[in-house]
Formats: sequence, C-alpha cells, structure tokens
Amino acid sequence: MGIAESKEPEDLLNWEDIKKMKYSWNVANEVLRLRPPSFGTFREAITDFTYAGYMIPKGWKLHLIAQTTHKNPEYFPNPETFDPSRFEGNGPPPFTFVPFGGGPRMCPGNEYARLVMLVFMHNMVTKFRWKKVIPNEKVVIDPLPRPTQGLPVHLHPHKP
Ligand code: HEM
Repeated sequence: MGIAESKEPEDLLNWEDIKKMKYSWNVANEVLRLRPPSFGTFREAITDFTYAGYMIPKGWKLHLIAQTTHKNPEYFPNPETFDPSRFEGNGPPPFTFVPFGGGPRMCPGNEYARLVMLVFMHNMVTKFRWKKVIPNEKVVIDPLPRPTQGLPVHLHPHKP
C-alpha cells in the first residue's frame, strides 16, 4: 500500500518498487513455506553419509520434500502458524527454506517467479477485494497442490 500511495494511479510498477516490497515478499515466502508449489527435488549421494541414524550409500537417489523441511520446529517455531515475520531480518538459515531448491541446481526461475508473484499481489490488493466462491474448497496434491474446483473467486473493484 505504501508503494501504491507513492505513485499516480496510472503509473506502472518498476524494478525499484519490486525491490521495496519487503512485507509482501515475507507474506509470499510464508505461503511458499507452508504450501510449497513444488513438492521438492532430487539429488544423488556423491559419498557415503549418515543422516538421522540412516546410512546413505554413495550413488543412492534422494528425494527431498520441501514441505517437511519447512516444518522443522528448530527453525520455524510453531511451524503450522502463518507468520510472515519469520522472514524479517536475515530470515531462516540457509537450506532450511527451500521452495526453489538450493545449491548450483536451484530453480533459475526464482527471481522471475518473485516478480510475477509480487506484481500479481500488488494489483490484487490495490484494485480489488475478493471472496472465495467455495469457502472450504478442497486442495489435492497430485503431486502439486491444486484446488479441486479451480479456485473461483469473486472480485469486487475498490471504489475510485
Ligand atoms: C513459484 C514458482 C516456482 C517454484 C516454486 C519452482 C521450484 C523449483 C524447484 C524446487 C526446482 C528444483 C531445484 C533444485 O533441485 O535445487 C526447480 C528447478 C527448475 N525450475 Fe523452477 N520453480 C518455479 C518457477 C520457475 C520458473 C518461472 C521457471 C522458468 C522461467 C523455472 C525453471 C526451472 C528450471 C529450468 C529448473 C531446473 C534447474 C536445474 O536442474 O538446473 N521455475 N524449480
């Protein structure tokens, strides 16, 4: 809202505005934490190692599940609670928050996805109030989260 107020109604968002959208991005990150759109990623063990008491031999294929990583109470106290302030300051330590994976094969689309999400959120919040048509619409995971009825929403433009 601060950015909207600093601009004329017809002004478009620019990159400087996007960089300032810290609170909106904290909100988006908290959504990505609780409902990561991608269920995780795969890796191959390049050496024998032990994790949580399990011996993983070199060459084994590993499946990392972002949703589980994101609910570790050591890094995310009350993990089921929606709390965008978790991302204030330095935010969570590296590799505890992995909606885009991590390391050299991290999602190369992550900055573009951030831009699209922030522009979408900005326009939704500043132009409309909205209401879900089906309040308790079921979300299935097959394997990505998908609202079963296509998430119909009533949009009501703000009065000029
Ligand atoms: C919210 C949106 C997105 C999410 C949550 C997401 C998530 C992911 C994840 C978890 C990976 C695996 C990373 C890893 O193994 O460490 C990945 C890989 C990848 N993503 Fe995305 N992604 C998103 C959007 C995009 C977009 C917009 C593009 C392209 C414009 C893109 C292109 C790719 C590509 C090419 C890879 C494979 C990278 C590699 O293996 O080197 N993604 N993404």
